[in-house]
Amino acid sequence: MPKPPTADRRPPSADRLPPFLAACYRQPTPYTPVWFMRQAGRYMPEYRALRERYGLLELMREPDLAAQVTLLPLRLGVDALILFADILLPLEALGLTLHFLPGKGPVLEPRLTPDRVETLPLVDVHEALGFVFETVRRVRLEAPQTPLIGFAGAPFTVASYAIEGGSSRHYIETKGWMYHHPQAWDALMKRLVRVTLDYLKAQIDAGAQAVQIFDSWAGALSPGDYARYVKPHVQALLRGLQATGVPRIYFSTGTAGLLPLFQDLDAEVIGVDWRVPLGAAWEAVGRHHAIQGNLDPVALLAPREVLARQVDAVLAEARGQAGHIFNLGHGVLPETDPDQVAFVVEYVHERSSPLSADG
Ligand code: CP3
Repeated sequence: MPKPPTADRRPPSADRLPPFLAACYRQPTPYTPVWFMRQAGRYMPEYRALRERYGLLELMREPDLAAQVTLLPLRLGVDALILFADILLPLEALGLTLHFLPGKGPVLEPRLTPDRVETLPLVDVHEALGFVFETVRRVRLEAPQTPLIGFAGAPFTVASYAIEGGSSRHYIETKGWMYHHPQAWDALMKRLVRVTLDYLKAQIDAGAQAVQIFDSWAGALSPGDYARYVKPHVQALLRGLQATGVPRIYFSTGTAGLLPLFQDLDAEVIGVDWRVPLGAAWEAVGRHHAIQGNLDPVALLAPREVLARQVDAVLAEARGQAGHIFNLGHGVLPETDPDQVAFVVEYVHERSSPLSADG
């Protein structure tokens, strides 16, 4: 008999998993589990109060505070927590300086250049990022019943920040590396995969029960460039995590045209944005993956009945099939009313439960 694809593996004790983890393995659940990207952030008054006293990096580097922020969304009824950290933290471990400037977003200095790849230090993640693993341990102690998602950036998305020195619109420098310095690009991708593997494995050792790889900006790439310059490294990262036994979520945005290329990725779950109907996305990536998404974050700013209709539309696309994790297509916007977020959690649970009158 042919071996099933690795995305099809089941954990040994799948029978009593919490709904979020069961859905990652496409097991039936009593209701559709839900969590939100950026669920701990500026839309929450408790978070803003903490930010008045502490800088963003300060909040992330102090395990007591980072754990406190990670736990804030519990009051919304979410089915999973996501570690409070940032995809750019490992770049500091590679010797770059990271700042978050108000209104400008992240700034990385000095910008990475092709000639410097070989001189990047070999980091010990425990030394450089030990505070992250300590945060994981504290969250697990405080909320042992709620699955905790660890995360990291994917090599392309993280590299783009290091190479452009911050956020980018056209990725001119990043793509320039690929086209003009393919060997240095390959070396950089391999270095990032290695550090990211160490980083995620340490999060898992500390207690993270699933991991999400954020390839937020992969949608900037043509299918050909994605296949040639990026996908092999994403696959190496995912395969490197296989032995950990935790589900892997691969998330990107603007990638409707890349979804068929995700079919053979070794990820249990593929996260998609709202620019593609969830059902079509699931077909495109293959039903052997679970799917995560894909409400437009702006729908959370709409009147209740419009919001409810849009949630219904996402659930209808999933057709009640096992393996749907409800989420936004990208992060919660700072303008969002937390009551709207709590409403969506409750509404998704109710509408997806078999006891629901007409759901
Ligand atoms: O989702 C969560 O609640 C967990 C925490 C989390 C943060 N960043 C905290 C954060 C996660 C999962 C991330 C991932 C991240 N960081 C991504 C991938 C997800 C995505 O949005 O596409 C990216 C691209 C980054 C890089 C980053 N961090 C940018 C571009 C910015 C500035 C823009 C912005 O939204 O402010 C950040 C800052 C950041 N990271 C904030 C938070 C809560 C902003 C909060 C603040 O200023 O207090």
